[in-house]
Amino acid sequence: MEALTGRNVLSVADLTVAELHELLAFAAKLKSGEITWTCRKILGLLFSKASTRTRVSFSVAMYQLGGQVIDMNPSVTQVSRGEPVADTARVLGRYLDILAIRTFQQKELEEYAKDAGIPIINALTDLEHPCQIFADLLTIQECFGSCQGKTLSYFGDGNNVANSLLLGCAMMGMNVRIAVPSAEYEPNPEIVAKAKEFAGKKTEVMITHNAQEAAQGCHALYTDVWASMGQEKEARERIPLFKPYQVNTDLLKLADPEAIVLHCLPAHRGEEITDEVMECSQSRLWDQAENRMHAQKALLASILGNDE
Ligand code: CP
Ligand code: NVA
Repeated sequence: MEALTGRNVLSVADLTVAELHELLAFAAKLKSGEITWTCRKILGLLFSKASTRTRVSFSVAMYQLGGQVIDMNPSVTQVSRGEPVADTARVLGRYLDILAIRTFQQKELEEYAKDAGIPIINALTDLEHPCQIFADLLTIQECFGSCQGKTLSYFGDGNNVANSLLLGCAMMGMNVRIAVPSAEYEPNPEIVAKAKEFAGKKTEVMITHNAQEAAQGCHALYTDVWASMGQEKEARERIPLFKPYQVNTDLLKLADPEAIVLHCLPAHRGEEITDEVMECSQSRLWDQAENRMHAQKALLASILGNDE
């Protein structure tokens, strides 16, 4: 797997459809042990927002490949004291082999990519969360044998996760439905247009305000928090607005009987998803979280190459 050698992954759509298929197949082989890989490189993590899964799964993936990790956050670097991105990027690029960044603006990521001279991975921005979606698609592939022709329905806020799901699902030949309370919470229109281009006439991209319509016969129900990191002030006022989009047993009943439930986590239990659904036999939340590590290991290995 060398398709992504030296590349940045700032968006799901930075991969071609063929590369995305290849990445997921590679992740499955690394997970099963069919392929082993060594990569003695150094990954930097520069996270301006909190993280449990992304931080730990990236670190463990890199360690298991034989590499090392430097976990930074702006408060312990000069970033918090205003050192320009272009300067930080050029310096970090001299030390590290690859840098995963979690921040607010996609533009900041692009600035790092322009100046660092090493591959940059999007570890979540306000616009996208590609690494999450690689793991989600791996999980769907494991559950159904293939993503092709399956329908994923997402309920809640048209946020970073929804944006990346739109791209990833459309690229994998899936139908994707996004149910949000109103136009204000719809996903990024440019991303919707791009997803529709990937889907062409073969699959469906639906943006709706009707949760029941979105749930009908779907194979995967997906939700995320109603207020993302950076939107904490809006959290309370969003609750009544988003309540009809909660993933609960009533919504689950409308889906295909074999449907699975996904959530990127962390969850606000009792808000976007009920305890009952999180813990039900159709929930694949913990496999999904584990797959962050396998998918990111594949990503690191395919960008950095094999040192054996
Ligand atoms: N899903 C996800 O990205 O989790 P963390 O915020 O814990 O990294
Ligand atoms: N949409 C959420 C995802 C967290 C993993 C956020 O950006 O806070």
